[in-house]
Amino acid sequence: MIRLIDVYKDYPNGTHALNGLSLEIHDGEFVFLVGPSGSGKSTVIKLLIGEIEPTEGRVMVNGFSLRNIRDRQIPYMRRTVGVIFQDFRLIEHKTVYDNMVFAMRAVGAGPKEIRKRVPYCLNLVGLENKSRRHPSELSGGEQQRVAIARALLNNPSTIIADEPTGNLDPARSLEIMRLLGHINALGTTVLVVTHEKDLVNRFDKRVVKLERGRVVADGKGYSGRKAE
Ligand SMILES: Nc1ncnc2c1ncn2[C@@H]1O[C@H](COP(=O)(O)OP(=O)(O)O)[C@@H](O)[C@H]1O
Ligand SMILES: [Mg+2]
Repeated sequence: MIRLIDVYKDYPNGTHALNGLSLEIHDGEFVFLVGPSGSGKSTVIKLLIGEIEPTEGRVMVNGFSLRNIRDRQIPYMRRTVGVIFQDFRLIEHKTVYDNMVFAMRAVGAGPKEIRKRVPYCLNLVGLENKSRRHPSELSGGEQQRVAIARALLNNPSTIIADEPTGNLDPARSLEIMRLLGHINALGTTVLVVTHEKDLVNRFDKRVVKLERGRVVADGKGYSGRKAE
């Protein structure tokens, strides 16, 4: 469960990125987070992964309440969340398989667990036959699927994606959203930031809209129900 309660975020340069934002996402939900550029979407994501701390208000993620960046709970919280970015963030000189191994070792997984989990996750995104390739030998859509497989390695209860289709053509974007929908259907909570209205409207999902650091609409479909 994700909960932001009356959150304010001011950056050191004085930008008020979030202005009293409250949002609750229950386990198993699929939520699109939309809104114009600069409305605070990425700031919400950075708060949820413990990369920044709120100026005011509370942020709770999967039972962890994060109070400051030095909070010793943050590594444990991070293991409950898989993150996906627009630019894939794969290691270019490692194969797909080794990218996955690297990510698992980083959180202290042993060889037995790695041998079991890596093929399982690659299979889930349909890339089991590309495990020996390097990222540069894959299409953008395939690279993003590797990033999704990597995000799933620690069996997170939540997947958070910041503009995961920003670098992909419409057909590939649809494929990625469907894959995230499939992962959600298997029980993982999914939060996807996007500004692609047409794509959002192809899915009958909850849409939370931000403007100037606040929730201005929350409901099914892009136009959404006005927030109270
Ligand atoms: N590290 C930062 N330092 C200062 N201002 C920032 C920083 N990151 C984002 N901002 C500002 O905060 C506001 C919200 O940004 P962001 O959360 O990235 O919006 P979005 O992802 O919706 O485009 C914008 O005005 C942006 O310029
Ligand atoms: Mg952003």
